[in-house]
Amino acid sequence: MMRVTMRQLQVFEAVARLRSYSRAAEEIHVAQPTVSKQMRLLHEEIGLPLIELIGKKVFLTQAGEELYSTCSAWLDSWGRFEQTISDLKGVKQGRLSIAAVTTTKYFMPRILGPFCSHYPGIDIALEVVNRDRLLERMSHNQDDLYVMGVPPEDMPCQSEPFLDNPLVVLAPQFHRLATKKHIRFSEIAGEQFILREHGSGTRLAIEKAFRERGFPLRVKMELGSNEAIKQAVAGGLGLSVLSMSTLNLDIAQRDIAVLDVEGFPIMRSWYLVTPKDKQLSVVARAFMDFLRNHVDMLNPYGSR
Ligand code: PGA
Repeated sequence: MMRVTMRQLQVFEAVARLRSYSRAAEEIHVAQPTVSKQMRLLHEEIGLPLIELIGKKVFLTQAGEELYSTCSAWLDSWGRFEQTISDLKGVKQGRLSIAAVTTTKYFMPRILGPFCSHYPGIDIALEVVNRDRLLERMSHNQDDLYVMGVPPEDMPCQSEPFLDNPLVVLAPQFHRLATKKHIRFSEIAGEQFILREHGSGTRLAIEKAFRERGFPLRVKMELGSNEAIKQAVAGGLGLSVLSMSTLNLDIAQRDIAVLDVEGFPIMRSWYLVTPKDKQLSVVARAFMDFLRNHVDMLNPYGSR
């Protein structure tokens, strides 16, 4: 009988799925040498190569493919077992894993404090990733709940809007349009824009707005963080379109103006999303109820 540990299988599954040691290390919250060590021990125990590293790319060997499908099935049934156990224990104890898109970091953590005080036995893991990474996690059934700006069209899921998510045009405080009313879209279309990275839901929304109006989008710079974008706008590098949620913590920020542009704010919602047919745990259902009942805590613009 092989002596393989659960930890080794968990590491292997992440490496095989993400095709990268560093991304696996990041996801499991361990250092990369730990991933390499667990992979080496697993390899020794199995006695056949599981992966091939070509450049920095991970390829699965035939044995690796076999182990990957065994692991995925095993993790699935282990997840169901854990859920049954925590359901048997009721809402008093358990684990809740939520994956939420980057921009939700401005409000999601605020609901977690009150929720945890209400249910002290529940541990929460909140993964904050961009839209593409979140969809990847969803397709691998990695979390209980997902929070995002637009539910995916190509994955069967249930979604429920719970909070407004207006997208606004930001400019530096002394921009020529900063105090103008009723700005036409064509007046901002010629400006340089600072956009989030590819894979961001905010970026998709801006690209769609420009496409629908038939204007090319002039991209000055890409930045992977809403905070960095606000600083770049304030510094006069260009305009941007971001969720109003990004201004929540910074209402006093005086070096940025919200422009009054036709068609803006783009009114969107934040959605709670669960894969269709997913059996929700008692803990996940408790969180959804808590969020529905306490949404006013999060919403500076009035709840839905
Ligand atoms: P993002 O997603 O944080 O990946 O830009 C936000 C959204 O989908 O609205």
